Amino acid sequence: MFLLKKCLFVIAMYIVPLSLLANEVEISTKNSSFVLSAPIDQQLRFEYYGAKLVAADKNFIAQNGLSLDYYPAFGVYNNASHAIQVTHADGNMSLELVVKGVETYREGDCLITKITTKDKVYPFWVTHYFKTYYENDLIETWTEIKHAEKQDVVLFKAFSANFYITGSNQHILRLAGEFINEAGLYEFPLQYGIYSISNKEGIRNTHSDNPSFMISFDGPLHENKGNVIGASLAYTGNYKLMFDKRKNITYRKVVKEQVNIVAGYNEEASHYFLSPNENFVTPKLLLTFSDKGKGQVSRNFHKWALKDGGMYGANNVSDILLNSWEGVYFDVNQDNMSEMMKGFSEIGGELFVMDDGWFGSKYPRNDGSTSLGDWMVAQGKLPHGIKGLLDAANKNKVKFGIWIEPEMVNTKSELYEKNPSWIIQLPNRETIKGRGETQVTLDLSNPKVQDHVFKVVDDLLGNFPNIEYIKWDVNHYLTNYGSNYLPKNKQSHLYLAYHRGLESVLKRIRDKYPNVVMQSCASGGGRVNYGYLKYFDEFWTSDNTDAFHRIYIQWGTSQFYPAKGMASHVSAEKNHQTGRVIPLKFRFDVAMSGKLGMEMKPSDFTESDKLVAKKSIETYKKIRPLVQFGDLYRLVSPYVNNGNAALMYVNDEKTEAVFFAYNPRLSKGGHLERVVLNGLDSNKTYQITELNETDYLPKQRENPRFVNTVLSGEFLMKYGVDVNFINNFEYGSIIVHIKEK
Ligand code: GLA
Repeated sequence: MFLLKKCLFVIAMYIVPLSLLANEVEISTKNSSFVLSAPIDQQLRFEYYGAKLVAADKNFIAQNGLSLDYYPAFGVYNNASHAIQVTHADGNMSLELVVKGVETYREGDCLITKITTKDKVYPFWVTHYFKTYYENDLIETWTEIKHAEKQDVVLFKAFSANFYITGSNQHILRLAGEFINEAGLYEFPLQYGIYSISNKEGIRNTHSDNPSFMISFDGPLHENKGNVIGASLAYTGNYKLMFDKRKNITYRKVVKEQVNIVAGYNEEASHYFLSPNENFVTPKLLLTFSDKGKGQVSRNFHKWALKDGGMYGANNVSDILLNSWEGVYFDVNQDNMSEMMKGFSEIGGELFVMDDGWFGSKYPRNDGSTSLGDWMVAQGKLPHGIKGLLDAANKNKVKFGIWIEPEMVNTKSELYEKNPSWIIQLPNRETIKGRGETQVTLDLSNPKVQDHVFKVVDDLLGNFPNIEYIKWDVNHYLTNYGSNYLPKNKQSHLYLAYHRGLESVLKRIRDKYPNVVMQSCASGGGRVNYGYLKYFDEFWTSDNTDAFHRIYIQWGTSQFYPAKGMASHVSAEKNHQTGRVIPLKFRFDVAMSGKLGMEMKPSDFTESDKLVAKKSIETYKKIRPLVQFGDLYRLVSPYVNNGNAALMYVNDEKTEAVFFAYNPRLSKGGHLERVVLNGLDSNKTYQITELNETDYLPKQRENPRFVNTVLSGEFLMKYGVDVNFINNFEYGSIIVHIKEK
């Protein structure tokens, strides 16, 4: 009865007689089924999303699925949380959408299911797309909206997708935080009523929230068991992911308890005048299901990011970089840049990135209050220009990268003086400014501004093709909601138009400069989502580089985003954000579980520090393929162990893994209890060796445990290993290499 058969190209085109069409559409991945029923000329209905169905279950679901309105529209039936709301040209505020066709086709390795619905009366079409990444159990879904009415239709809301979960005991996992405290992990039972994860910052969008969640079907979430759906909205702008939990919501059937989950761009202050024949495309929602808990949900997202193009440049091994920010802040000059390159190169570093403070001619940049927009070298600081820096990089055998913040401008800049109308501002009101009391935002809805932002990057990379890396920053949110470019009656398009403009610039950059590595940064972790990662190779996880806090921040971030993208930098002994003093080995061991970098002056190192740094960098080069491309298994959560944590990465063949354990606090007598490993092959035998041991610091353990230890995968995953750290020392850490013998 089901439509989907693996090698089908086009199953049914529009207006196939009903008798030829079975109603159910199964969108399936290796381990999951998402089932809709799509009877021609009737409502599109959601039936099921969960573990993969076998033939008998399919028949059952065909008869007894949930049968709930897939894309509830405002107007006729008004008792659900709506996915779409419009006002037609004639003032009618309703939609009654019915299925007009189902089509499936291949795009590369993916199968796309396209379901077209149309209003019963108006020439108004809503088309849903479901693209499946079969092996990684991921469905990418979005909606397109079009009409052929005589005048504009006002779109008040148009979410990307909607689905349902029944039962009464769902738990949610989400990230929440703030500047220098991003990606906090929160898990809680979902209550009746409406709960939403939303953002309205306009430009950067992941400091306080992240457009991602997991939801369990039955009770608390577990790392390795239980039915869990994971979702992440791939969007650079404002978003809303909403859970509406109630009883007896449906008008067709009595379903006792259910949650309807809608997700998409945030419609607030964003009503959109859709012209006839214009195609409105919603952001993409990524969905994955696992019956093996949240660990597998994370791995599905990571694998998709790494293997299915979810994150830019994911096949390339990432370099170990030194960023100048915490080393010198704005005090950039040729000498200190060259010195940092030299010191970094001596310990094995690969890429040097010059951060803020290098630009501005009329107004040289010495603090946050001037020069954004004037992307020419400050001659007083760098008399030999970028060429001088590239020469120094070449001499020191490191690659070179540079910081820019091209969406922004200071009112104290030549760019602003020439083009004051290019900024986002409100008529008749004083413009609220950000950093330095002068920072404002360029209006990317304006094509001229888009060209300008593209040119900033094009000039840098065109004139200096040896720039191999860009750190693209944003240090403001959208204040003064007004555009000098958009017409008076379309000011409400600004939130959406800004991001269309941004994406069009990023696409142009990627078309012309496919090989430049780009980091997405926004006052730390303000731009960590799959909307950005389509164009960026990595993200700056947080401006907080305190290794103790980083255990938590990276743990939270890892729920949805892979270690390959997660920039993790070692910084000064006394941390600049928290004042905490942490031993260098611990700082490295934490950073090495992500994308290792540094954020300090190597000249501040003592001789013994240099040895630790050099050895750590050497170690990272060995384990880098495992960390950057392996499967993550989270073992001990810092949230239940006062910061004590353990995790590991395993390669696809399960022949090699790397294990990290941290013991920042002296709870439990200085050791982490026995840790049961995961992800290995129980039939294999592994050699276990400690890495990154420090001979030049007090011994971490009196009786090192892992010296030529050989154990079976079965033993490691059933009994586990005792992880001892030295007694009387806080900040114990250990890295262990596990290799098939
Ligand atoms: C932001 C970034 C930092 C640094 C500064 C420079 O805060 O998050 O890493 O680049 O800007 O001004």
